Amino acid sequence: MNLLKQRITKLVRGEIQNLTAYQVQDATDLIKLDAMESPFDWPGNLQQEWLAELQTISLNRYPDPECRSLRDEILAYFNAPTDVDVLLGNGSDELISLLMQLVAGPQRTVCSFSPSFVMYQLIACYTHSQYLEIPLTPQFTIDLNATLDTIQRHQPELIFIARPNNPTGNCFATEEITTIVDAADGLVIIDEAYHAFADSSLLPLCVEYPNVLVLHTLSKVGLAGLRLGMLFGRNEWLNELNKIRLPYNIGSLTQATTSFALRKGTQIHAQVETLKQEREKLSIALNKISCLTVYPSEANFILFRTPTESASDIFTRLKASGILLKNLSHSHPLLKDCLRVTVSTAEQNQAFLTALKQALDGN
Ligand SMILES: Cc1ncc(COP(=O)(O)O)c(C=O)c1O
Repeated sequence: MNLLKQRITKLVRGEIQNLTAYQVQDATDLIKLDAMESPFDWPGNLQQEWLAELQTISLNRYPDPECRSLRDEILAYFNAPTDVDVLLGNGSDELISLLMQLVAGPQRTVCSFSPSFVMYQLIACYTHSQYLEIPLTPQFTIDLNATLDTIQRHQPELIFIARPNNPTGNCFATEEITTIVDAADGLVIIDEAYHAFADSSLLPLCVEYPNVLVLHTLSKVGLAGLRLGMLFGRNEWLNELNKIRLPYNIGSLTQATTSFALRKGTQIHAQVETLKQEREKLSIALNKISCLTVYPSEANFILFRTPTESASDIFTRLKASGILLKNLSHSHPLLKDCLRVTVSTAEQNQAFLTALKQALDGN
């Protein structure tokens, strides 16, 4: 072992050496349907208007550390109930990390469902927390008895519930979530990263229940490059998080761009509506392919199961045809043979369907 390697082995904490960094697939020259991004950029006239606003920013000055005016705009845009405030993060990933730093740690338990968003487990691990996974049923619904049993036995300090869930796409029933919240002594985070594509949001729960906070992001509605996550909840919680948030975590360009985007909210809304319609069309088309099992989705992606042991082959063939999906077939026992496709424009969805049919035919 060379000297540098020896030093790293000696100094870096063991559990981090054993982790694998979050992997992002290389999408060069591919139709990118792997990461739940929106396919729509802003039209040229909007880009010009936006650039004109950015020109007025003084980059020699630090940004507003508390994002005061932007927070008000966000609360209004999302119709947040009175008594609810919002904390902003560099993507919701940063807010998940802050929540873990606040509440998790050694001798603390974090729990979520499985399969669900991978960052919960990754961040729980590097905050030295015990991480408990409660398996979903084979239909990806909540096993309520098992969940209540786990809560009672382990009294988790922090529970993450992604709704709609990633990577399965379904929304858990509201009554099940309120039952869980009632049973939990710990803090429950309802992660609504995909709420724009769902029929309902549970944002009002953070008023009704003192142990609920709700996460949103702009990443899935056309602003993934911006990195803007939002945590809604009672000020009492947000004040504690503010003590460990790094100052100036939201740059001036991000604050100004977010404000601009919210003022052009009809644009966001129209793109989301188009994607919801495309999701229904894509889902119908996939359901017509008899060898696939297609799972219902309230998000901007669709999970589907391919014939036994064929997912990796199909994934590779799609990639060779220029289409990049997420291969989940080896990520979790319940996701065996599963692939996930992000809903895109009518043209890109059609290109995917054509390539998929060819891949299934073995062409
Ligand atoms: C359920 C869920 N929460 C949070 C995130 C992170 O989003 P952001 O881009 O805001 O960090 C994702 C991203 O895929 C997600 O699926």
